[in-house]
Amino acid sequence: MASQPQSLSNQLETDQQKVTQNLINYVESFKFPYINDINNYDRMLKIGQGTFGEVFKAKCKKTGKIVALKKILMENEKEGFPITALREIKMLQRLKDPNITELLEICSSKATSYNRGRSTFYLVFTFCEHDLAGLLSNQTVKFQLAEIKGLMKQLFNGLYKIHMSRILHRDMKAANVLISKEGVLKLADFGLARPLFKTVPGQPEACYTNRVVTLWYRPPELLLGERQYGTAIDNWGAGCIMAELWTRSPIMQGETEQRQLTLISQLCGSINPTTWEEVEKLPLYGKIDLPQSLRRRVVERLNSYVKDAAALDLIDNLLALDPRKRLDADKALDHRFFWTDPMPTDLKRLMSTLQHSMFEFTAAHGPHKRAHPQQATVNVPAKVPAVQGHMHDRVF
Ligand SMILES: Nc1ncnc2c1ncn2[C@@H]1O[C@H](COP(=O)(O)OP(=O)(O)OP(=O)(O)O)[C@@H](O)[C@H]1O
Ligand SMILES: [Mg+2]
Repeated sequence: MASQPQSLSNQLETDQQKVTQNLINYVESFKFPYINDINNYDRMLKIGQGTFGEVFKAKCKKTGKIVALKKILMENEKEGFPITALREIKMLQRLKDPNITELLEICSSKATSYNRGRSTFYLVFTFCEHDLAGLLSNQTVKFQLAEIKGLMKQLFNGLYKIHMSRILHRDMKAANVLISKEGVLKLADFGLARPLFKTVPGQPEACYTNRVVTLWYRPPELLLGERQYGTAIDNWGAGCIMAELWTRSPIMQGETEQRQLTLISQLCGSINPTTWEEVEKLPLYGKIDLPQSLRRRVVERLNSYVKDAAALDLIDNLLALDPRKRLDADKALDHRFFWTDPMPTDLKRLMSTLQHSMFEFTAAHGPHKRAHPQQATVNVPAKVPAVQGHMHDRVF
């Protein structure tokens, strides 16, 4: 009789072990609906390290197709699937277009006791050979005017599709512009994208966070605290990218928000209610130092790089301080830049001269190391050297 409690506790222990084992078996053999096995791919090399995950080039074992795997960082997730990745997936499903990156599927690794029962998730994209930051950092890559027109036309086509789908990209920058080996430009990285809310008459307008867009490509309204912004924020970035096709490095590289506004004022002229109607209503106007008596010098400062008058005019209109005056993607496509000789051309010639892939990440670690990294997205501080004390030292 005395052994009975002992056998009861043994029995309980065995039952508990069985339950634990069943649970492990369940987790290990669990198949998420719509999610495929990452073991279908062989990883080849790392091509990107973003704020939200790593990107690898990989090959499908069955078909041999080359893809890009974007690993979803789960470290900060206490539970569940990260909202940023869910947003990105939802946006990409809505945005099927030749000039927008193509999401093929979502994959996960198996949950095992080795990874404490936590799967790793990956977004699988059609692979593109280059990103624009990588191409621009390589001085041997020379763009002809007609090719720049071809690139910008594709960029505005992609942006038009995004904006017509009532989506804001919110992270326009050269590293998020991909180019396939066929020379097709694809806007990528929808990690910060979000839908535009419909405005209901009589209801207050929707507010969005203004901590978006990499600092160097961030428009003045965001820097001044605007939270009811629209598609014009992406067109400012398009203007910065367009100028960069000639200057080869980002045109305004501020290391703080204050400094970015100073650089913008030095290029686009002083910010005040005369140059930008109702700017005084923005939350940070009057709270942040805005240098006065500076005239607009976009054309003057860029004309030693950009020798085409129509190109200069288009950049000038994309870098309008007042978002209401900034050209949108539709109007940009109608600009005479795209309708005068030399007409836009495809990138076949250029692509045939490139021997290997060029990415910002590999350039930053290889022979084409960029002088000024450009990672200041969201709350991450810009990784740039200390200010040299001169007001023009960090501009193209
Ligand atoms: N489909 C693709 N083909 C080739 N390279 C890609 C592809 N998608 C992304 N990359 C590379 O990986 C980099 C990072 O990808 P992505 O911008 O989507 O990630 P992220 O984590 O949001 O980056 P960040 O926060 O730096 O903007 C890109 O700049 C590009 O160089
Ligand atoms: Mg990116």
